[in-house]
Amino acid sequence: MKHKWAGRFSENIKDFGGYSIGKTLSLLKDPEIISLAGGLPSPRMFLSGDFQSVSRKILAENAEKIMQYSAIPGEGSLIGAIREFLKRDAIDVRDENILVTTSGQHGLDLLGRLFLNPGDTVLVDRPTFAGAIVAFKMQRPRFQGNDIESDGSDINGFRQKMDTLKKEGHPPKFIYVVPDFQNPSGITMSLEKRKQLLDLSYEYDVPVVEDSPYKDFRYFGETIPSIYALDQQREGNHVIGLYTFSKLFCPGIRVGFNIGPQAVIEKMTNIKEGNILNTPKYNQDMCTAFLTEMDLEAHITKCRHYYREKLDLFLNTLNIHFPEETGVSWTKPAGGLFLWVTVPEHIDTQILLSDAIKFKVAFVPGAVFYGENPKKNHMRINFSYASKEQLVEAVKRLSECIKKYL
Ligand SMILES: Cc1ncc(COP(=O)(O)O)c(C=O)c1O
Repeated sequence: MKHKWAGRFSENIKDFGGYSIGKTLSLLKDPEIISLAGGLPSPRMFLSGDFQSVSRKILAENAEKIMQYSAIPGEGSLIGAIREFLKRDAIDVRDENILVTTSGQHGLDLLGRLFLNPGDTVLVDRPTFAGAIVAFKMQRPRFQGNDIESDGSDINGFRQKMDTLKKEGHPPKFIYVVPDFQNPSGITMSLEKRKQLLDLSYEYDVPVVEDSPYKDFRYFGETIPSIYALDQQREGNHVIGLYTFSKLFCPGIRVGFNIGPQAVIEKMTNIKEGNILNTPKYNQDMCTAFLTEMDLEAHITKCRHYYREKLDLFLNTLNIHFPEETGVSWTKPAGGLFLWVTVPEHIDTQILLSDAIKFKVAFVPGAVFYGENPKKNHMRINFSYASKEQLVEAVKRLSECIKKYL
């Protein structure tokens, strides 16, 4: 080839390596491997019956329209349904505060493009959602963060970082958090800390991005109000919410939304026009039907019950195979789809993974969940996808594999 392509790539992209979880998942072709790696909801929770009947209805009644372009901000009917959906969480927004996105990942990409210049700082938890890191990375920001605590973000640590950055004349562009059953740790931010985070946001005038796709998957304890709702009760205008229906309905639908101040949503809409134009109408109509025509609360109850049983089983099996003397510990999430396992410090989980694959079990090595200075002795475990039998077998295989390192 005449051209040396690498020299032609843009500054933002030339060193961009993509999504390392994707690469890990692509290694798992052997059907005998039990994967605890992907963040996959169980297909058993996928509303297959509703999907078929709703699909048929949409195609019969609306085929010509669904094959057409649709409005950039999203279909009016879906926006209306989202407003009702949000009322369950005491969030009251207008149409102008909502942008329908083509999945959560799309919302993250839009936010990165909207706010970040190369060298800007984003405050994040350590660990945090790898998909957010990779989406924001395309704008070449710096990530700074503090180790997450058992009740969520280290707010004092954030305050110190804010203080230093402000003194240096480069305050962070935003703080990104996943407050409910965080991906990857499973940790939930306490109400107190949500309020403190808002205090911080007001004091330093830095917005909070709240990404919360797991909120309805609570298996223990009381629901905690979202940071968005708490902000609405106080000053308002400081939080941008990000949501995806990938977990609640199904990832194949690729529908989510962002909520926030009108000025932010308008700009995001402009960016969406330039990057994907509109979210497929068919997918939006499916989503509207799921929200308005089926028994949403019954679906949520079913998911909660199903995933909770899996979580219980997984935690019990861990207790059996990893007694205290192994030095292996894990979080005990009150909901969501993940837990975070810590192995003794001398074990690098990236190396462990290549061995685990020989034992026919896989997880995501923790290092990908750090914006900077990754820690290497953690792994993210997903407990929603594998069957119960597979979950038990996976823990056995993991313990056999890890034994070699202890
Ligand atoms: C916290 C968080 N945000 C965003 C996403 C992306 O969602 P989607 O699959 O709709 O792109 C995920 C998916 O795992 C997630 O866990």
